Amino acid sequence: MIQHDVPLVRLNTFKLPCVAERYLALTDLRQLEGPEFKQAPELVLGGGSNMLLLDQVPGLTVHVSLGGVQLLTPVPVRKTSSSLDTGTLIVRVAAGVDWNQFVRYTLDQGWYGFENLILIPGTVGAAPVQNIGAYGAEIAERIEAVHVWEYGIGVRVLTPEECEFGYRDSRFKQEPGRFLITAVDFRLNGKHELKTGYGAIQTELARLKIDNPTPNDVALAVTNIRRSKLPDWFFLGNSGSFFKNPVVPMSVHNRLKTEYEDLPSYPINPGHVKLPAGWLIERAGLKGMRNEAVGTYEKQALVLVNHGSATGREVLNFSESVQAGVLTKFGVELEREVQVLGVSTV
Ligand code: EPU
Repeated sequence: MIQHDVPLVRLNTFKLPCVAERYLALTDLRQLEGPEFKQAPELVLGGGSNMLLLDQVPGLTVHVSLGGVQLLTPVPVRKTSSSLDTGTLIVRVAAGVDWNQFVRYTLDQGWYGFENLILIPGTVGAAPVQNIGAYGAEIAERIEAVHVWEYGIGVRVLTPEECEFGYRDSRFKQEPGRFLITAVDFRLNGKHELKTGYGAIQTELARLKIDNPTPNDVALAVTNIRRSKLPDWFFLGNSGSFFKNPVVPMSVHNRLKTEYEDLPSYPINPGHVKLPAGWLIERAGLKGMRNEAVGTYEKQALVLVNHGSATGREVLNFSESVQAGVLTKFGVELEREVQVLGVSTV
């Protein structure tokens, strides 16, 4: 049933005030056959964790609330109390399932592969859109298929290649308004292959005095790291990393490195490197800076926070001042990671 003038402030992790002109919760796939889904709605809302909402969303907002987790194949065989069959597991997860609850569920089931991606806010359906990633892992590595509704056409199943995944990028981001993700098939393992190469994970495992980590240990290390650096949106509204880490030509990197010896960088290919936007913002003197209710987070400059009463427009203006500061100081352009949606009414 369509509702009118529905507030979205509790449905976005930035806690920005916004009103949906019309609002529909998608709880059943059969609803997709209705006239509303012949074309794309104005806004498709999952966990609201990667968006900056302006005051109003005209038209229809669809809140994807499809639930369910299904193990497709094969059923794992418990060999001993501590080891599982080594086979690959395919798990189908509905788009409305909370990502972090799903990761915790996989760990409880002994389905491994997502331990590095614990505690990321948002829903399963939103996760492929920006190819969520953290601590050396990306969701795209474990996607088997993405089930979508293509507006005006119908049900489709996309292969990972057809999703065109990249760093914080996908076809869903590149072609907004074409697909609505209804479910994702993931490939997990009954036996774990841990990714502990990321420096911060190694440091945290050493601090915990863990030599032979289990997937639960890695999840604990990532949980501790995230809690120490990233704000919990429940207490301080935010959208995670606000900008992408910029990929720059080697010549730009070399120019900056002569001036800033401690500049961290990650090689992408022989001609390009990724620079940490958090470092650039901090070294531009903008870490912890605040303008009324909007600021950069004091422990991770890449995260913009809503100290309480910010509007989307204020966050957007503030983010542009951060981009300008980094451009002036380093000559590097920061691109937004979050999507700006809706319209301002003032
Ligand atoms: N750094 C600073 N100052 C800061 C923040 C970072 O100097 O204020 C430096 C750090 O010291 C480090 C480097 O920047 O040398 C990278 O920092 P960090 O490991 O915290 O990761 P990041 O590049 O800032 C990315 C993701 C995060 C993800 C972490 C861990 C992007 C845009 N962000 O952040 O993802 O959790 O790596 O893998 O790629 C998100 O997308 O919402 C998100 C939180």
